[in-house]
Amino acid sequence: MNAVLRTLLAVLGTTVLLTACERPPVDSIQSGPRGTGMQQVYNPRTLAANAGKHTVPEALPPASSDGPKASAVYQNVKVLGDLSVGEFTRLMAAMTAWVSPEQGCTYCHNPANFAEDSKYTKVVARRMVEMTQHINQDWKAHVANTGVTCYTCHRGNPQPVNTWFTPVEPKQTKRAAGGDAGQNSPAKSVALASLPYDPFTPFLLESKPIRVAGTAALPEGNRSSIKQTEWTYGLMMHMADGLGVNCTFCHNSQSFGNWETSPPQRTTAWHGIRMAKDLNVAYMSPLTPAFPPERLGPVGDVAKVNCATCHQGAYKPLNGESMLKNHPELAGVKRLPPATATGTPLASAAGN
Ligand code: HEC
Ligand code: HEC
Ligand code: HEC
Ligand code: HEC
Repeated sequence: MNAVLRTLLAVLGTTVLLTACERPPVDSIQSGPRGTGMQQVYNPRTLAANAGKHTVPEALPPASSDGPKASAVYQNVKVLGDLSVGEFTRLMAAMTAWVSPEQGCTYCHNPANFAEDSKYTKVVARRMVEMTQHINQDWKAHVANTGVTCYTCHRGNPQPVNTWFTPVEPKQTKRAAGGDAGQNSPAKSVALASLPYDPFTPFLLESKPIRVAGTAALPEGNRSSIKQTEWTYGLMMHMADGLGVNCTFCHNSQSFGNWETSPPQRTTAWHGIRMAKDLNVAYMSPLTPAFPPERLGPVGDVAKVNCATCHQGAYKPLNGESMLKNHPELAGVKRLPPATATGTPLASAAGN
């Protein structure tokens, strides 16, 4: 092969490689000490193309809190009774815009009788109001005062775009005696890595341990297997993908396990894992019987929440803009709040 041909092939090879990744130039921003590879890489064109996705809709004009309470005027209000009729009506209009803009009020209501609970969507929506208030009141360690509204997850869709179901276990192949743990099938849930494709059931519904790294220099006492580690990496791929960041947004590459050298975002993420689990266990799963069978997943479970449900590719949902400030009625629970997980990453036992 002559030199020219070899150069040509090399150039071609590079082109092929580059087109498989994102086209340069990209911006990289250093986010930690030098030499630790703590950089976030952003593609300005992708950011520009997705900007609309993270923009908040205009808020409805505020309503007066004067006048009779909804509980005094309506027949069947169980959660929003403290609002004035004006505030109540404004929230109904906002919920319609956030969840069912095309279907309108009748997505949840029988127009002949707004008080009846005949549509499952109304039953679910009532619990969703409580769930939203619970997030905003009891999960400030994650959502801060920015908080969430229905729009954070729904974005104008009756069903949020990013949710997950427990998948059916595939028929075991001869190759992988004892189950393939979801390997060898690049899955969207783990950013197309060949890792276990359901990192959600063990970590965002059940409480399987996430921590796998040894804490001693020599390999003693650490019983975590490579297989367990791959599940952890599956969850991490989802978290990075769901937030549109690299691993070093939350980790110092010197030690992925060490908290002292990790950026503060990792602690926020720690609370996020517990929050997603709490929402799935305390709100989503118990709603299963309310949903019609065709809305359930392959194993009969309800659609559930993960990081991407709210974040949708942004490191703060809606780029950190608060819609809650225009909807104080969603900021707190008026009734007894359900039990919430508390604690800090450092104080908790490994994996919890
Ligand atoms: C996403 C579901 C959803 C949509 C869309 C929706 N509502 Fe509601 N609506 C509810 C829920 C849930 C309640 C009960 C609230 C409670 O229990 O505190 C309710 C209650 C009501 C009530 C009180 C009825 C009574 O007598 O008990 C009225 C009136 C009402 N909605 C009007 C509207 C109007 C008007 C629209 C359209 C602009 C609308 N709703 C859109 C979920 C919805
Ligand atoms: C943390 C994310 C989150 C928030 C916040 C949220 N929802 Fe949901 N909602 C979900 C998920 C997940 C489902 C199940 C989706 C599915 O079945 O595909 C759902 C389902 C629903 C459904 C049933 C839709 C259908 O077609 O089956 C309604 C109605 C609904 N939500 C209303 C609301 C309202 C109203 C609010 C605000 C008060 C709200 N949601 C806030 C995550 C959220
Ligand atoms: C949004 C923040 C965030 C991102 C992004 C992230 N991680 Fe994590 N990572 C965490 C948190 C939080 C924990 C601890 C979870 C727990 O203890 O519940 C963790 C734990 C781990 C662990 C286990 C550490 C131990 O103590 O055993 C490994 C390994 C890991 N991450 C690797 C990665 C890799 C590789 C990536 C990129 C693909 C990544 N992480 C991306 C937040 C993040
Ligand atoms: C119910 C919606 C919701 C879910 C689900 C959710 N988050 Fe968040 N997250 C938020 C909001 C809102 C903020 C912004 C808080 C603020 O303004 O400081 C946030 C902020 C963060 C931050 C801090 C970003 C920064 O720059 O300071 C990290 C990290 C994060 N989330 C990780 C996660 C991970 C990992 C998951 C899944 C395990 C997750 N989140 C699930 C709503 C959510």
